[in-house]
Amino acid sequence: MARHLITSALPYINGIKHLGNMVGSMLPADVYARYLRQRGHDVLYICATDEHGTPAELAAKEAGLPVDAFCAQQHDAQKAIYDGFELSFDYFGRSSSAENRDITQHFARRLKENGFIEERAIRQVYSLDDERFLPDRYIVGTCPHCGYDKARGDQCENCTRVLDPTDLIDARSAISGSSRLEVRETKHLFLLQSKLQPEVEGWLDTNGSKEWPTLASSIAHKWLTEGLQDRAITRDLEWGVPVPADVWPELAAEGKVFYVWFDAPIEYIGATKEWADVDPENRDWKSWWYEADDTVRYTEFMAKDNVPFHTVMFPATQLGTREPWKKVDYVKAFNWLNYYGGKFSTSQRRGVFTDAALDLLPADYWRYFLMANAPESDDTSFTWELFASSVNKDLADTLGNFVNRVLSFSRKRFGDTVPTGREAGEAEAKLGEQIAELLAEYEEHMDALQFRKAAQALRALWSAGNSYLEEKAPWLEIKTDQDGAALTLRTAMNLIHLYSVISEPFIPASARAMREAFSLEGDNAQWVTADHARALDAVPAGTPFTVPPVLFAKITEEDLESYRERFGGTEQAA
Ligand code: 2FM
Ligand code: ZN
Repeated sequence: MARHLITSALPYINGIKHLGNMVGSMLPADVYARYLRQRGHDVLYICATDEHGTPAELAAKEAGLPVDAFCAQQHDAQKAIYDGFELSFDYFGRSSSAENRDITQHFARRLKENGFIEERAIRQVYSLDDERFLPDRYIVGTCPHCGYDKARGDQCENCTRVLDPTDLIDARSAISGSSRLEVRETKHLFLLQSKLQPEVEGWLDTNGSKEWPTLASSIAHKWLTEGLQDRAITRDLEWGVPVPADVWPELAAEGKVFYVWFDAPIEYIGATKEWADVDPENRDWKSWWYEADDTVRYTEFMAKDNVPFHTVMFPATQLGTREPWKKVDYVKAFNWLNYYGGKFSTSQRRGVFTDAALDLLPADYWRYFLMANAPESDDTSFTWELFASSVNKDLADTLGNFVNRVLSFSRKRFGDTVPTGREAGEAEAKLGEQIAELLAEYEEHMDALQFRKAAQALRALWSAGNSYLEEKAPWLEIKTDQDGAALTLRTAMNLIHLYSVISEPFIPASARAMREAFSLEGDNAQWVTADHARALDAVPAGTPFTVPPVLFAKITEEDLESYRERFGGTEQAA
């Protein structure tokens, strides 16, 4: 038994996430966590809302709420959706917690003591009417290169040139529109990443980044090749972890807070502390993070844009404390899920959002589709057509139909206990071999975090049951050989039970419904051994069962038409 620490990138607080966010971090982390728990490992799956930063402040303003109240409300709204998706977090925290504030400040103190944080004066744009310094992207004006009049202070969207806010012609605040701007000198803390570069490189080379998917390791190495820049880690905002006054009294008095990307990854640790603080049983939280021994394996899940922060910046921060904080062992990164080839967009609400998805159909439909089509090796596109065909073929026809057909037919002919019939014969031995082989394949892909391949193997396991049933055709068999038909049905029911266990990581609610069809004492979702897979004997003859309601409803042409109309289809592709 190993101890598995799992985190998924923290969803930002400013709005409900779309399906692309879901498949790029939280959902695969959940599938992996569930799998490992079923296999008997000790798993700690931690996530939280990422709550600081300018976008949160602006979203709160737009909602007409104080930022703390806005974040509390949005945290609850996101949490309710993740519960709906059955994400099995051990804890879902908040980066604005007192725990994260304390640990973030501790990190900063240690980094300062070790010479990795330095105060520097920089020149920044101040808006007199907004009474605040403006981050570069909140200054807009005319691009000096192409004349585009909505260029941002960090980059011109039209000609893609990188800009400095002072390059803009007729610069104004993107918040208020005011052009009463001036450049002021102000002090900020800088993390001296350039000094930490050799250590980060050393850590990457010796700690298994070679095993990571290329997507993760290539991005990390690209950043290092370009050279790590020292980075400002404070901001002039009201909402954030305050700079500790005992170390930097002047900056603290000015109300400086840490930059959101400084405290967000620390919240993985912060949320673990939150988890411990709500339940005294969890008091050993530090054993996961501090001087953790070799039995702890830490896996992070995230979309590709997050990779630099997790493979370079956060490890640099951890290394610079000179304390034994647990660093990531394996980074599972994802490409983008697109919507009909164009981007999902939170600001334009283009695509399918997690709240709308749950209003439409049960979580399992989404979970299965998203994981079976996860953007692992390339960007992939969501289309309603692909979604419907996946649900109809795999879930409704292959799995759901099998379960219903077997249980209803058996109840009709043999009553409501698993029929006895003959001893297993040649066909069952062959089936058992095939199931054991496919199960080994499935496990191999799950262990390697290859979710598309794992979903394919799972599908093959479901199909094997269908082939067996077609071959034995108990509805014909029963006319001439009652015992033979009973054996076939008993075997098929054992397949259903096996499916309930091994499908759990992908479709937990349906898996539960399948498992609960059988009244087996002390039954749980504990993983299937190869021997049991071969013998197909977990559900003995005489076990009472019920027929669950249809597991998956098919998506019809009319449904499809209405989804396309409601959510937009090809015509919106950007
Ligand atoms: O990209 C994002 O949505 C960030 N909120 C992810 C943060 S991950 C972690 F470091 F906190
Ligand atoms: Zn331009």
